[in-house]
Amino acid sequence: MIYKKKIKNVMSVLHICSLVVLFFCITSCTSSERRISLFLYTDTDPYIMLYTEEILANAGTDLRVERYFARNSQTIQNEQIERTINRKTDLMIVNPVDRLGMYPVIERLRQEKIPVIFINREPLARDLDRWNQIWYVGARADQSGQLQASLVATLFGPATRLGPLDRNGDGKIQTVLLKGEQGHQDAEIRTEQVTKSLASAGYDIQLLTTEVANWNEEQAFQKMEGVISRWLPQIELVISNNDAMALGAIKALRAAGKFVDDSGDGKIGCTDASWIPIVGIDGIRDAQVMIDRGYLAGTVYNDYRSQARALMRLARAVLGFSSENITDSKYVWIDYTTIRPE
Ligand code: GAL
Ligand code: CA
Repeated sequence: MIYKKKIKNVMSVLHICSLVVLFFCITSCTSSERRISLFLYTDTDPYIMLYTEEILANAGTDLRVERYFARNSQTIQNEQIERTINRKTDLMIVNPVDRLGMYPVIERLRQEKIPVIFINREPLARDLDRWNQIWYVGARADQSGQLQASLVATLFGPATRLGPLDRNGDGKIQTVLLKGEQGHQDAEIRTEQVTKSLASAGYDIQLLTTEVANWNEEQAFQKMEGVISRWLPQIELVISNNDAMALGAIKALRAAGKFVDDSGDGKIGCTDASWIPIVGIDGIRDAQVMIDRGYLAGTVYNDYRSQARALMRLARAVLGFSSENITDSKYVWIDYTTIRPE
């Protein structure tokens, strides 16, 4: 009898155990958590790092986002994508190294039926058109160039009557342009639009030189050292395709004796004779600090917070977590806005 009871007890304990196991299996094995693989062109770009932070912050608990940094090599990125295909992933988010080289990536993901959202570096429209499970979330480069031109216009005053920042009073603005990576839509279009917009508003921009510094602060610093040794007394404006390069320019110009408190009011600003207006794009934290301290004349916010939010809403819709209609086309565009000193 006792023996039988013992067996019965053991059986019911086993029964409870299996129920517990079953319960865990139902909650974890059929858990709604989805895997997203996020491919970023590098981990040394401050703007991309802020954007990445924001994407993770918007993922919530039901989306698992795994990051892969490609060290600025498309070959590395392709390998990372290939390896991820072999493990299970529900969606890919790709910030290409080479936006023009996305055709093979798209073909591969189409074969595997893995949807993909591109960000920040816009693939060719004809590549995006190859499949209906591809999207692009970004900002319109021409808008950033136009807004940057409006910052310059405010600084210099009316085109026909330039204010005191036309240091030599010749009615022209002697300008240095710092350009991002060649072939990047933002570098090409921002450069073209900022100069075009100023010209069509009647400003006479005398371009001293255009220097390519690949979005990078250190490269901009070095390029500016060369520019300074050749043109320093003439420079009246520095237009930079992004904030990181603008910060490099500030550093180089400070080292060359610019940005000192000539007026003796305890502050750095446009009333100092050695002050040179520099405008950037992005609105990264360090740029905001330099605006507050009087060194950076303004920037154009490349709204990574809204881009990350829109991206993750689109991701949820693609994964079937929501029935929200995010876009009727393949594109989601987020507006730029200007950031001026208070
Ligand atoms: C731009 C941004 C740059 C750089 C680049 C990378 O949109 O303004 O600072 O991050 O993207 O692709
Ligand atoms: Ca001038």
